[in-house]
Amino acid sequence: MKHDAIEKNVGLLIVLILIAVSFGGMVEIFPLVFDKVGAKPIDGLKPLTAVQLEGRDIYMREGCAVCHTQMVRALQSETARYGHYSVAGEDVYEHPFLWGSKRTGPDLARVGGRYSDDWHRAHLADPRSVVPISNMPGFPWLFDNVLEGEYTAAKMKTLRTLGVPYTDADIEGARDAVAGFTEAEALIAYLQNLGLDMRDYAGGGR
Ligand code: HEC
Repeated sequence: MKHDAIEKNVGLLIVLILIAVSFGGMVEIFPLVFDKVGAKPIDGLKPLTAVQLEGRDIYMREGCAVCHTQMVRALQSETARYGHYSVAGEDVYEHPFLWGSKRTGPDLARVGGRYSDDWHRAHLADPRSVVPISNMPGFPWLFDNVLEGEYTAAKMKTLRTLGVPYTDADIEGARDAVAGFTEAEALIAYLQNLGLDMRDYAGGGR
């Protein structure tokens, strides 16, 4: 039998396995490359405001992504806790992605609106003041550092070259929009926006 011949010939078997596996890979990868499925923003996706954008940079600088993911997996245990699973279209304006890979703390992709600004202030200054068993470090210096916004417009211009639809008015007004905010306020503005664009997705994001 032909099948016997294949199973007894290791070289041929390896070649045929490689062909079969690459075909499977192509079926998964090629549509994403050619249809640009992943590059299509979800309806109503908005770029971050100048203040939220600065907040996102603080999130990166402080290493929040070391302990927090922004990626809800398509498992019931995840969607029951966090809300709609993450979809490619909600991250089209994200440069770089902050999906993360390890959860010491909870996923934050849907945390926007879950707590009040006051709660976030207390939590960032001293996590154990609101969650007694928390092992998250406090970030008290964020309340002292005040933003001047000198690079905000340049950051938005760069993001525009990557396809984020900032208008000239957004960029011109960026510095004034940011100057005077504390880093804590900008970070909280960013956190409170996480997942909001997904609220109306496929019948309700959360
Ligand atoms: C060393 C790990 C660690 C780091 C770094 C860290 N966190 Fe946390 N975070 C946690 C843990 C653990 C919890 C769960 C306990 C709690 O709520 O404090 C948490 C909870 C949270 C929550 C509440 C989430 C929810 O759904 O209840 C928010 C918001 C949050 N962190 C934001 C941040 C931000 C912003 C930063 C960066 C400035 C940060 N975290 C850095 C570990 C961390």
